[in-house]
Amino acid sequence: MTVLRSEYLSSAWADGIFANRVLFITGGAGSIGSAQTRAVVHLGANACIIGRSVEKTEKAAKEIAQVRPGAKVLGIGNIDVRNFDSLKAAAERCVKELGSIDYVIAGAAGNFIAPISGLSPNAFKTVMDIDTIGTFNTIKATVPYLIESAARNPNPNPSGTTGGRLISTSATFHYTGMPLQAHVSAAKAAIDSLMGSVSLEYGPYGVTANSLAPGAIAGTEGMERLASSELTKEQQTKGIPSGRWGSMRDIADATVFLFSDAGNYVNGTTLIVDGAGWRRQGGAALGVDSDMTYPEFMLTGEISKNVKTGREGKAKL
Ligand code: HXC
Repeated sequence: MTVLRSEYLSSAWADGIFANRVLFITGGAGSIGSAQTRAVVHLGANACIIGRSVEKTEKAAKEIAQVRPGAKVLGIGNIDVRNFDSLKAAAERCVKELGSIDYVIAGAAGNFIAPISGLSPNAFKTVMDIDTIGTFNTIKATVPYLIESAARNPNPNPSGTTGGRLISTSATFHYTGMPLQAHVSAAKAAIDSLMGSVSLEYGPYGVTANSLAPGAIAGTEGMERLASSELTKEQQTKGIPSGRWGSMRDIADATVFLFSDAGNYVNGTTLIVDGAGWRRQGGAALGVDSDMTYPEFMLTGEISKNVKTGREGKAKL
């Protein structure tokens, strides 16, 4: 499958800016993760993409490697970010086979639509475990390599090359709260907080750590799950000040910025890439349609049949 450069990278970046660098990314076979990896590999890096499914991860790695002749992309499957030891082993393998880890994206996430009344303690814990503990585990498994990379690449570097950079994938729901997303909102809030601590503790070693918060991004698993199929594209995007859903390229470009020589002094913050959607809360639309007006759907417990709840009927709790 050939993916056009314009789908994952703008024309702003020079080829080769990430030459001889290595990206380690969890969730790298997902829709946003693949675009991020494609962009960074296109610009010169090699990559290790980490995922639960062996088949999906290896297939994505093969496809992404085609973006640049000579690119090495290793798909390391059968790794669950909830299991620290397996992540640590994946990081060791990545360094052994590709030589270093210079950039990390903690992108693995879990999501489904459910009210608090439909969330069992284990359901809430599952998303906290995948998102928050998974991000923590990813940091723990890779930070020694990021410190080494930062030492090789002082910030700023006269050569313009960079290293020792960490991005976690966040969201914007927790800025306002979001019905049916209590678990995800809590998990992402914790991730943002964690990145602040990482910047404080590892900034002195030259590492930068930031969250990247996508809004509603077209073509992603997230929006596939969250948006109502009843609404037209115009109805879905009307509430977003920039007038559209984001593209995977928007997120990939922001990733490149944070890893590049242009992002040297961005540390300990969240880069929101959402067309100002969170300011109106209309952005993600979260399945709200004629079948699901607020607060009626909360009071009746009926979630729109036009969104993928992942569950049949009402919560059993
Ligand atoms: C309520 C649910 C549920 C649902 C699962 N559970 N689906 N509860 N409503 N729709 C409950 C289960 O009943 C169980 O609780 C607990 O969650 C764990 O479920 P498992 O299936 O055993 O977990 P697991 O196999 O680990 O799967 C994790 C998962 C799954 C999160 C449930 O969806 C997954 O693997 N997702 C990964 C891919 C993904 O979600 N990608 C989208 C990311 S998008 P009990 O009590 O029964 O044991 C994203 C965007 C965010 O993050 C923001 C966008 C703007």
